[in-house]
Amino acid sequence: MSSQKTKPFTDKDVKNKVLTGNCVELMRRIESESVDCIFADPPYNLQLGGDLHRPNNSKVDAVDNDWDQFDSLKAYDQFTTQWLSAARDCLKPDGSIWVIGSYHNIFRLGYILQDLGFWILNDVIWRKSNPMPNFRGRRFTNAHETMIWASKSEKSKYYFNYDSMKALNEDLQMRSDWYLPLCTGGERIKGDDGKKAHPTQKPEALLSRVIQASTRKGEVIMDPFFGTGTTGAVAKKLGREFIGLEQDETYAKVAKTRIDAIDPLKDILVDVQPKREKPRIPFGSLIEQGLLKPGAILTDSKKKHSVTVHADGSVMAQNRIDDVRGSIHKVGAAVQGAPSCNGWTYWHYEDKGQRLPIDHLREQVRSQAAQQ
Ligand SMILES: C[S@@+](CC[C@H](N)C(=O)[O-])C[C@H]1O[C@@H](n2cnc3c(N)ncnc32)[C@H](O)[C@@H]1O
Repeated sequence: MSSQKTKPFTDKDVKNKVLTGNCVELMRRIESESVDCIFADPPYNLQLGGDLHRPNNSKVDAVDNDWDQFDSLKAYDQFTTQWLSAARDCLKPDGSIWVIGSYHNIFRLGYILQDLGFWILNDVIWRKSNPMPNFRGRRFTNAHETMIWASKSEKSKYYFNYDSMKALNEDLQMRSDWYLPLCTGGERIKGDDGKKAHPTQKPEALLSRVIQASTRKGEVIMDPFFGTGTTGAVAKKLGREFIGLEQDETYAKVAKTRIDAIDPLKDILVDVQPKREKPRIPFGSLIEQGLLKPGAILTDSKKKHSVTVHADGSVMAQNRIDDVRGSIHKVGAAVQGAPSCNGWTYWHYEDKGQRLPIDHLREQVRSQAAQQ
């Protein structure tokens, strides 16, 4: 569904800016298919029935703001349909969206997302390491929030940085349950009165994972419910561009001040390319480019097996009766009697008395290609 754009914004109007106003109207003025990713933390529609007190009678600082009030579930659904339609229009065909919510609204969000044509990729549980207790003791402690991650459509070639997520999880695939603390301590922004500047400021760790998982460096992430600008702060730190939309002037001001104070991390710390996205370099191009000569000897790291490099990029195992010849991977597997082998990390060459995996030479070819 394409919304009509009145007075469209230019790139300069929106990139790395916090715009104040109703996000639906603002998104209708943002160029169609210009945004790589969206993170949305919309009103929860908490429907609180009166004040909540702790056992010591102190009042719980719950979310009772006007922006979280809707007359009915129908009104909430209408609002959700409006903002999600406008957001979908801004999203590139291969873009993805994250929406976060609690049991009050996440099921409605998921239903409407699917009806609008988004394609759900995961529901990620943010398990809070320090949740607020259930003071009345009549239900389970509500210790998580849910994020739905969806691509624009079933056909979208959405981005997922599998390798960075795996690295974050100590080399195990990142799971869909994330154990992270609430935003507290020094990270929690306070007003001049010492009170929380915003009732639902999200932790930067959560956004850091979202942004690293689903955007590349330099890409644009839009947040239609910007609040204190957590998305913008983390995006700037990680070398991404952001678009922040927030209807409340006070929150928008807090967000701008917060983001202005952020120093982006150095390029080298954030520009992690997933392995699969790196250009494919055949082993033969190391020989063509003179980094290895035909006749060169490669060995495994312990010098147990060795091969001779041939001019056509094949290698031949030495000291064997069966003349095993083929790709670095095939021969690596054969000499070990293994079903498969990554020849790039298995085979080593000698450089100034040091044995290094031939993957080093592949990286040299890649960086030369990138400079051309
Ligand atoms: C749940 S909070 C987001 C908090 C934010 N993620 C953070 O870390 O600070 C939702 C925000 O959406 C804003 N909001 C609600 N309805 C809006 C609308 N129609 N347009 C723009 N902003 C809206 C509220 O003022 C509130 O700051």
